[in-house]
Amino acid sequence: MIRVVVSGYGQMGRMVVAAVEAADDMEVVGVIEPLHDGRPATGGTVYGVHADPATLFAAVHPDVVVDFTNAAWTPRLVEAALAAHVRPVIGTSGVPAATLDALRAGCAERRLGGVVAANFALGAVVLMHLAQVAARYFDAAEVIELHHDRKVDSPSGTALATARLMRAARGADFTHRESELEHVPGARGAVEGGVGLHSVRLPGFVASQEVILGGLGQRLTLRHDSMGRDSFMPGALLAVREVMTRETLVEGLDALIGLR
Ligand SMILES: NC(=O)c1ccc[n+]([C@@H]2O[C@H](COP(=O)([O-])OP(=O)(O)OC[C@H]3O[C@@H](n4cnc5c(N)ncnc54)[C@H](O)[C@@H]3O)[C@@H](O)[C@H]2O)c1
Repeated sequence: MIRVVVSGYGQMGRMVVAAVEAADDMEVVGVIEPLHDGRPATGGTVYGVHADPATLFAAVHPDVVVDFTNAAWTPRLVEAALAAHVRPVIGTSGVPAATLDALRAGCAERRLGGVVAANFALGAVVLMHLAQVAARYFDAAEVIELHHDRKVDSPSGTALATARLMRAARGADFTHRESELEHVPGARGAVEGGVGLHSVRLPGFVASQEVILGGLGQRLTLRHDSMGRDSFMPGALLAVREVMTRETLVEGLDALIGLR
């Protein structure tokens, strides 16, 4: 059994606890929730919630820690995990560059497997890969990303990364036609590497992305929809299993599943 500590008991953390509990080859051995020390975390089992990762790691000797928290907390968690030889699986958004450097160096030095991935949804990662393949055969492309209305940033990190990867795969900017007359400023959206970017924010969406590539007399549409946060769980559990067999940090789910 792979012994897993879950860092963060927010929406993602709760789902990770449930997913690990449901898997046959791993178990939850502790929960870290820095902002709510002492609150019991209830999955199938009731876990004590700990605020200090170093103390918990010393007590339960986990194999892996899965972190879905906040970029302000993840650096502390990473430091404690590396010191205790606990394999890090990091899903928190916006991890600082210095923390990524520490993860790379710390995993390599200790021959520890680790994963850091901005998107654990396998379908979204496959879409990004296919968009790069298609980018070589079309001169014009636009990305429409659709998210829930509480999302703080736009465009989404995934949409921006998709546009940049498509531009890199082509080796040149896409052709982007601006309107001669824009009745409302911003109607044509934002542009990255010639790829038009459009952000929809509405209740009723979790995370969707459509890449449309246009050519003479034809178009190709690639679309992925996350209907719930459970869409991130197969990728997160895959990472938990994979770090057990690796000796360095893997950056991105695409690298983990052999797409890069
Ligand atoms: N990689 C992916 O595929 C993926 C998917 C979904 C969400 N995320 C990211 O995972 C993270 C958590 O998402 P969520 O939906 O569970 O959010 P949430 O708000 O439900 O939970 C956030 C958790 O982080 C903790 N936290 C927040 N600020 C903190 C701080 N300053 N110090 C210590 N702990 C702090 C909270 O106590 C809570 O446990 C976010 O960064 C989100 O963008 C990543």
